[in-house]
Amino acid sequence: MSDLHWTLPQPAYTDPDVFAADLEHVFVRHWTFAGHSCELGPGDWFRVTLGRDQVIVVRDHDGTLHAHHDVCAHRGSRVTTAERGTAKAFVCPYHQWVYGLDGCLRSARLMGDAFWNEDSTPIGGVRLAPAAVREVAGLVFVCPAATPGEAPEFDGFAAAATRHLGPHGLADARIVARDRYRVAANWKTLVENNRECYHCRGSHPEFSLSNFEHGTHGDVRPNPRYDAAVARARARWETRGLATDEVSFPGGSWYRFTRLPLREGFTTETLDGRLVAPVMGTLPDEDVGSLRVVGLPNLWAHANADYAMTTRLTPVDAGTTDVEVCFLVDARAALDDRDVDALTAVWRATSEQDWALCEATYAGVASRGYRPGPLSPVVEESVASFLDWYRRRLPRTTTAAAG
Ligand code: FES
Ligand code: FE
Repeated sequence: MSDLHWTLPQPAYTDPDVFAADLEHVFVRHWTFAGHSCELGPGDWFRVTLGRDQVIVVRDHDGTLHAHHDVCAHRGSRVTTAERGTAKAFVCPYHQWVYGLDGCLRSARLMGDAFWNEDSTPIGGVRLAPAAVREVAGLVFVCPAATPGEAPEFDGFAAAATRHLGPHGLADARIVARDRYRVAANWKTLVENNRECYHCRGSHPEFSLSNFEHGTHGDVRPNPRYDAAVARARARWETRGLATDEVSFPGGSWYRFTRLPLREGFTTETLDGRLVAPVMGTLPDEDVGSLRVVGLPNLWAHANADYAMTTRLTPVDAGTTDVEVCFLVDARAALDDRDVDALTAVWRATSEQDWALCEATYAGVASRGYRPGPLSPVVEESVASFLDWYRRRLPRTTTAAAG
């Protein structure tokens, strides 16, 4: 009993009050993965919905990235009517107030002279409410509860992302496939599943072709063959300027960057191990293994030589999570449908296998027979450290229900 870590009590996964606290304290007040820089050319925007909060992320024509609450400053209507688009301005569909991409009010019909200052700005600083947004190494994060000036610390993550993921060139990449899933499970069930490879051998035949079963953060199994493969790969990568240090949730933080070798004969995570697309970014050549990225609470990614896969979770309710899996390649890559199928085969299969595992798990977790279960101290330490991180983010009152 004593030293083992356990999964959470049932309400942590099923109780709507805990879910509301998760949204508030784990997502909206924290940096949450929102999308990719390469989706946001000048004038391009997408929106991110987290519970009752909805944020528009938009690139201005001078390259500046903004995030605005999707709430009209007049009577509160949603301003957007689609998930993404390209705009010169945002026009509220209700009474047609017009906002610049920077969120400032440009015009408002029939508001009378008293509404406008002498310099044609509205009184009281009326505008779309700004939210904190950052981008680094091609990944965009928002913190809807914060204004740009009061955002939580980001620099440690940004430095690690720049060093490890920067050379993959995601900022200038192209998304060749975007898969969307609605998974009948709590978001934590999906993260727990991602944080261990205990299940890989039994459930992921495609993934296991190219990947060692080892390498998950906190996996303490000794394996001389794997350890030797890591040492050899790191020695090669270092001579070519790739960062090889392991950034694995430093100080109990929210992120991980670890470059790991693939199995002998595999240069990327495809079924035959061969590249489908050109080497990305400023990578020295195709011998780069696979960079594993985690950004709690809602991002994991694998960046290979020729493509990167990102997974973004959006919690919908206690028992429902939306997932978006994107595949990015060099912007100049010319791929036909067969190439895209080859590029996505491993992660499409793996993701869909994972959603089935999560749905089966959540059905049990939500049922009368569920009790918290013991985590393996050998291969599930990363699940335990995720749950620790999660509990630390919750206020005391909720922690009681969430274990
Ligand atoms: Fe947007 Fe009136 S609510 S213009
Ligand atoms: Fe899995």
